[in-house]
This record gives sequence, structure tokens and C-alpha cells, in this order.
Amino acid sequence: MAIHAITLLTLSLLCYATALHLEFYPGTQPYHQTGSRYDNTAWLVSVQDPPERYLTYGPFTEQWNTTVPSRVDFYLGVDNNVGDPSDLLTVDVNDPGTDRVLTSRNISRLDFGYASVQPQVFSLYFSSTPGHSLEFRVYYRCCSKIVHYKTVVDELDGGALAAIFAGQGGLELVSSSTFPTPHADPSSSSMWNVGTYVKPLDGKWYIFYREGFYAPTPEFCNGIVPLTRIAVRNSTDFGKSWSEPAVIASPGNLSADNCAVLDGAPFFDNETDSWHYLAQCIGTNKRWDLCHYSRSGRDPMSSPFLPNPANPVVQGGQLWSKICSGREKHCTSTMYDEGTPEIVEKINGWFYVTFHGWDGPNNKAARGIARTRDFVNYDVAGYDLPDDAIFSSLDCNGWNITWSPQSLCVGGGEGSMAKSGDYFYHLIEAPDITLNCDTTLGEQNWVLGLLRSPRLSARSGEWEQIRFNPAFKPAKKYGCGIQYHRIFRDENDFFFSMFVIDFEVGKLTMKVWKVVSGQTYFPVLVSYP
Ligand SMILES: *[C@@H]1O[C@H](CO)[C@@H](O)[C@H](O)[C@H]1NC(C)=O
Ligand SMILES: *[C@@H]1O[C@H](CO)[C@@H](O)[C@H](O)[C@H]1NC(C)=O
Ligand SMILES: *[C@@H]1O[C@H](CO)[C@@H](O)[C@H](O)[C@H]1NC(C)=O
Ligand SMILES: *[C@@H]1O[C@H](CO)[C@@H](O)[C@H](O)[C@H]1NC(C)=O
Ligand SMILES: *[C@@H]1O[C@H](CO)[C@@H](O)[C@H](O)[C@H]1NC(C)=O
Ligand SMILES: *[C@@H]1O[C@H](CO)[C@@H](O)[C@H](O)[C@H]1NC(C)=O
Repeated sequence: MAIHAITLLTLSLLCYATALHLEFYPGTQPYHQTGSRYDNTAWLVSVQDPPERYLTYGPFTEQWNTTVPSRVDFYLGVDNNVGDPSDLLTVDVNDPGTDRVLTSRNISRLDFGYASVQPQVFSLYFSSTPGHSLEFRVYYRCCSKIVHYKTVVDELDGGALAAIFAGQGGLELVSSSTFPTPHADPSSSSMWNVGTYVKPLDGKWYIFYREGFYAPTPEFCNGIVPLTRIAVRNSTDFGKSWSEPAVIASPGNLSADNCAVLDGAPFFDNETDSWHYLAQCIGTNKRWDLCHYSRSGRDPMSSPFLPNPANPVVQGGQLWSKICSGREKHCTSTMYDEGTPEIVEKINGWFYVTFHGWDGPNNKAARGIARTRDFVNYDVAGYDLPDDAIFSSLDCNGWNITWSPQSLCVGGGEGSMAKSGDYFYHLIEAPDITLNCDTTLGEQNWVLGLLRSPRLSARSGEWEQIRFNPAFKPAKKYGCGIQYHRIFRDENDFFFSMFVIDFEVGKLTMKVWKVVSGQTYFPVLVSYP
């Protein structure tokens, strides 16, 4: 065992030592058609400089001698990031020997999350041919002050989750807890307090979850959902035990939020030292919308979050109608129900948010993505966005599961992503028959798949799958037999969590596994208790 571990360590060190890495500083190079040197190593172009030419071209390097998928990062800054959405720049990877552009993208001023000229990273992904020379170019279209600080090229690395993605990592169960139920819990509601999200910070795990029946449900919510709010508990033992709760978001007095706030996701923004919580909300309007809550400081439990005055910040259907309009989309234009949101990352000042969608009449589900700087205004197109679904029935219909022949897989529901190395790993639920839970034994498949991509802009069909999806499946075939799964990181460790529900006995448990070395045979069968 010990020898095995040493061998693995040596191998990974070797891989690390041989991974190619290049850095170029435009101010130290001669390849420019416009602009001037800035701050010794950078290059600046301003509105007085000639437009429509290369701010930087070259460096005609022959050192990118690899077939490993690679990424080039352009560090760029702009003086103004609001207003005119037209493109300012085009970045590309060019093979000057064949005069072939391997990949390119346009960048508008809105793609920059920050103004006042500071470095922000824009990436391109490519695979090259050994022996060919390469250029990493920045073309200045027009009309702004722009600085090119540096260009960095790396081979892509799957990080700590690469092994389990290949079936070569193990899963160690670290906790299996009965989640606390509400104080005044009617017996039929013992499974209501789910909707969990584990967020490690400062050596603690915070679990955000929905809490129903904390007060009598008002008559106007009958037939909608029980009165439900969001609470947080903390744990210092990987979820074996949980502290008393603190309430952070409650139903308000809007028709969009006067019955429930639930099934959302927290995000701690280290840059501004503040917490965000984006939730599904519903009220007497009977429509699922998204509501936003926030507070400053590192401890999410010290006082309630403030509801955003613009709530509901997303009205049901608002984002899906844009994502799915146009040709060759992987979702139906009648999709709605932006739900189970997750705030995946803050990149260049933009929060990237994923969410499910449901189109009842067409029996289709999908997961989509948008970005926001302020949780009030959202874009579905722009830098690192697909302007399409990221997961649809296209991605699950081929999984090795006996999907109902009438409906196959209807698409994706709740999804959770973690970044490991240069990849986003996506754990997502996919059912057949419907996106609603069919809790009769033996009727509905409800399984989790694991996919990955270095780009959030990868569309449905473009995400790499583990060799044999699904990755997790409930031991007893129940719709929603596994629910509210997450994949999350705590320092250098990665964890999977999910609720396992046995509808026969009306009981559930929350299980958490740590990713360790070993071997995993997919699908992992998950059982209660
Ligand atoms: C490219 O890599 C191969 C194999 O590692 C090596 O044999 C070759 O000399 C390298 N070529 C250059 C130009 O570095
Ligand atoms: C960038 O914009 C130009 C001009 O509008 C367009 O022709 C080109 O296709 C765009 N490139 C990409 C990669 O979208
Ligand atoms: C953890 O929860 C307990 C009980 O609510 C609370 O007293 C304590 O302050 C919490 N710790 C942190 C770091 O939030
Ligand atoms: C609605 O709630 C807000 C904030 O809780 C409060 O300021 C406002 O007075 C309430 N409005 C009504 C009509 O109750
Ligand atoms: C969090 O912010 C602090 C201060 O801005 C910074 O020093 C630290 O590196 C940041 N941590 C992470 C994980 O980004
Ligand atoms: C597909 O699943 C069946 C039954 O679950 C199993 O026997 C078979 O080996 C699987 N096929 C592959 C290619 O994994």
C-alpha cells in the first residue's frame, strides 16, 4: 500500500515537472501594429491609436510541442465596461505556417467585469500539431483604452477529480446523518427539510437548507407549497453532526415570495467579503422565480441576509426564453422554471449561475447558464457562455440505464459543479418519464451523471462523459430516490453529498463521501440507510 502511494506521488511529480508552460510579455516583444509600451512589460492602445490592427501578434513559438489539449490566457484590461456592446477585440491562436486560425473569439466591453484598466483573463482552448509554430494574437477593433498585460499558455490538467472521472479514484463515506426536521413537524413532512447546499469556509462546513412548517402555512399558500424559509447550520465533523440553525431568508410580502424561499445556493465572495444566496421563490403568483439575498462578513449565521429590493430578480421563463430562442438550440423555446440555481464561479467580476428548466407540455428538462454582475441583470450570451443549454436529453439518452422506452431521459434537473484543475466537473440528475418525482417503486429512473469541460461555454453534447454514465443510482428504483446532490471542495479535498430517500419507509439520510485514492466502479449504488 505504502509503496503504491509513493509510486503515484513520483508519477504526479514527473507529470507536473514536464507540463509545458509559457509566458509572454507584450512590452518586451516587437510584434505590434498599434499602441505603445506601458509599464515596461505591457502594451497599451488608446482611442487615438489606429484601430483595426494587431495590438499584439507573434511570438511564432515552436516550443508548444504537445498534443495535450491546451489553453492560452490573455490578460487584458479596459477603461470602460458599460454601454456599447460591440466587439473591442478579437483574440486568436494562429498557425502562421499554414495561415490557419485554430480558434478565436470576440470580446466586447461588457465581457469585462471590471473597468479602470486592471487585468482580467480571457481564455482560448486549442490542440496543436508538434513542430508547428504558433501565434497568440490580440486584434484591436476599435474605440477604447485597452492594456494587454501578458499571455500565458498551459496544458490542461484535470486536477484532483481527474482520477475519479476515469474510475481510478475512490469514495470514502465520511458521514451519514439524519437531517434535523422542523420543530412542529407534521408526520407527513419528515422529508421536507432538504434542498441542502454544503459550503466549507474557514475550517467549518455551513449547510444551507430549506426549513418548512416553522409556522402555520397561510391559507393563501394552500395548494402552492408549505411556508418555507432558508436556514444555515454549521458542522466541524464532515456533517456527522450539525449546530442549531440560524435563519437567513424568509418568505416576504411579494406575490413572488410570500409562500416559500427554497432550493438555492450560497456563494461566499472573498473579493468583497460578502455572502450571496440565490433561491427559488414562489408566492401567490404561483410561478417559480429566483430571489436574491446577501450580507457582508464571513460568518453567514450572525444575522439574516438582506432581500434584494429587485426581487424577484429572475421571473420564471425570463432566461430560458432567451437561451432557447434561435436555431439549433438544445432546448424548447417554451421552457420555463429557472430553478435549483447554483453560483458556480466569479470570473472577471461576473457571477456564473446555472439553473434547471422544465417544459411540462413537451416533457423536456435542461440545465442552462447565465452571468450577472449584480444578481439583478443577467446575460445568457457573452464570454464563456454557450447561449444554449449545457445539458439536455441529448447528454443522457445514451447512458447505460433502462430508460422508459416511451420517454427516454427527459433531460437534466438539479446540477452541481466544482472546478478541479482546469475543468468544471458537473454532477447532474437525469430522470425518465418526467422531472417530477414518481415515488412508486420500480417506475422511474432517477440517476446522476458525471461530466466535465474546461469551458462553461460548452453546449449540451459537448461535455465529456465518464466512460459509463450514470455515476450514481439509487439501490431502490424511486423517482427522487437520490436528491440534492452536490460536488464541493474543502481546501484540497473534494466531496460528493446527496440525500438518499426510501419512500417505502418514509425515511431519508444525507450521505457525504470524500474523494480518496482507490477505484470506483460506476454506477455507484446508493442505498438507505
Ligand atoms: C518535441 O517532443 C519530442 C518528444 O518529446 C522530442 O523528441 C522533440 O525533439 C521535440 N521537438 C522540439 C522542437 O522541441
Ligand atoms: C467576430 O466578429 C466578426 C465580425 O463581426 C465575425 O465575422 C466573426 O465571426 C466573429 N468571430 C467569432 C469567433 O465569433
Ligand atoms: C455555529 O453554530 C452555532 C449555533 O448556531 C453558533 O453559535 C456558532 O456561532 C456558529 N459558528 C459559526 C462560525 O458560524
Ligand atoms: C413588505 O416587507 C418590507 C420588508 O420586509 C417592509 O418594509 C414593507 O413595509 C412591507 N410591506 C407591506 C405592505 O407589508
Ligand atoms: C481572499 O481575499 C484575501 C484578501 O483580499 C486574499 O489575500 C486571499 O488570497 C483570498 N483568498 C482566496 C481563496 O481567494
Ligand atoms: C450496462 O448495465 C448493465 C446492467 O446494469 C450491465 O450488466 C452492463 O455491464 C453495463 N454495460 C456497460 C457497458 O457498462
